[in-house]
Amino acid sequence: MTRTLFVSFGTRPEAIKMAPVVQELHRREHFHVITCLTGQHREMLDQVVETFGLPVDHDLDVMRRTQSLTHITSAVLQGLEPLLVERGADMVLVHGDTTTTFATALAAFYHQIPVAHVEAGLRTDTLYNPYPEEANRRLTDRLAELLFAPTPAARESLLAEGSPDEGVLVTGNTVIDALMATAEKDPPQWEPQIREALSRPGKKILVTVHRRESWGVPMQSIARAIRETCERHEDVTFIFPIHLNPVVRETFRGILGGLRGVVFTDPLSYRPFVHLMKTVDLVITDSGGIQEEAPTLGKPVLVMRDTTERPEGIDAGTARLVGTDTQAIAAALSELLTDQTAYSRMANAVNPYGDGKASARIADQLEYFFGYRQEPAEAFGPPAEK
Ligand code: UD1
Ligand code: UDP
Repeated sequence: MTRTLFVSFGTRPEAIKMAPVVQELHRREHFHVITCLTGQHREMLDQVVETFGLPVDHDLDVMRRTQSLTHITSAVLQGLEPLLVERGADMVLVHGDTTTTFATALAAFYHQIPVAHVEAGLRTDTLYNPYPEEANRRLTDRLAELLFAPTPAARESLLAEGSPDEGVLVTGNTVIDALMATAEKDPPQWEPQIREALSRPGKKILVTVHRRESWGVPMQSIARAIRETCERHEDVTFIFPIHLNPVVRETFRGILGGLRGVVFTDPLSYRPFVHLMKTVDLVITDSGGIQEEAPTLGKPVLVMRDTTERPEGIDAGTARLVGTDTQAIAAALSELLTDQTAYSRMANAVNPYGDGKASARIADQLEYFFGYRQEPAEAFGPPAEK
């Protein structure tokens, strides 16, 4: 007898982080896996699906050009209902903290199907920061029966909120599974803009920004910090694969358009992006996933947010929370560009987020949950501090 696992994801980071899970579950004989894209993202999601060769059984195709949270939530709820009824499922798997994540968990709950939450327990404890992700992840964790916490700190947060110990497993983050598998592949053929940018003398800085709570003044302030850094350090090149959100594009192109020190590209596929992270000197971002990847690659990362749910990289010294103030970001950049000691202090390869085996632990624990194994999966323990 096999069990049917219904895996739903809708955005770029969910797809990257669920790809190794889907691949692992397909290798397990007891599971029949159904994959459903909500299509909250389109091109950026399709890039990942293609990169990992993921099988897709359903696609709700919900994305609209300027979509509201209400649109995503209601379209996912409406779209999933007939599928969950027709296909049936023994468990629904969701990832992370997007609106796809929460809406899928809610749809499963409405049909009394147990939910497993991958990357559970991340918290800033500030409801509106990040917005709406902090609420999405808290609500999803309340609805989930199995909680796959990436780190011991995430497990502690779940236990402190009253989640039962036996429902929580520390697995490591599946992004490290995806990253390790991708980083060992050959570097890609760079597209011409990136090849030209990398051929310039001077330091290279990789930038990504997209968070909803930064729309407006904080995002303009981040853009001005980049402009100011280009003016102060003429040999520095920012490489900026810019998110497809029109709000983000208009803000950055408006303030940075025409600057020689800023090279914009469309979002990159995962393999080129990983190799670019390996190649540049440092990374500035508000991304969650990149905060987890950069430490593994030994790249200093400045986190342009006021809070983070990923304190491990900061504790390890490879990440710094710099906020969104122009002067604070510009000062932190200048320090890393000019002070070799400060740079070297941050450029350490550490792995607080995983060891590449998170997906295997998740599959093992699912087998245990359904009675195919006698013992629960072994938990991930990050390397002890030196
Ligand atoms: C979403 C998630 C966020 C996650 C981020 C990863 C929510 C509310 N937000 O934010 O948690 O960190 O994805 O990138 O779940 N667009 C395209 N093509 C694409 C993707 C996006 O054109 O492939 C444009 C569309 O105009 C879309 C807009 O971007 O309306 C915003 O997309 P949306 O998913 O609502 O928000 P993100 O900022 O991407
Ligand atoms: N990423 C990518 N191409 C890009 C930018 C990012 O493949 O042009 C990857 C990155 O390596 C990470 C993930 O996308 O794994 C992060 O996605 P994003 O920043 O959109 O979302 P978040 O992690 O903040 O939720």
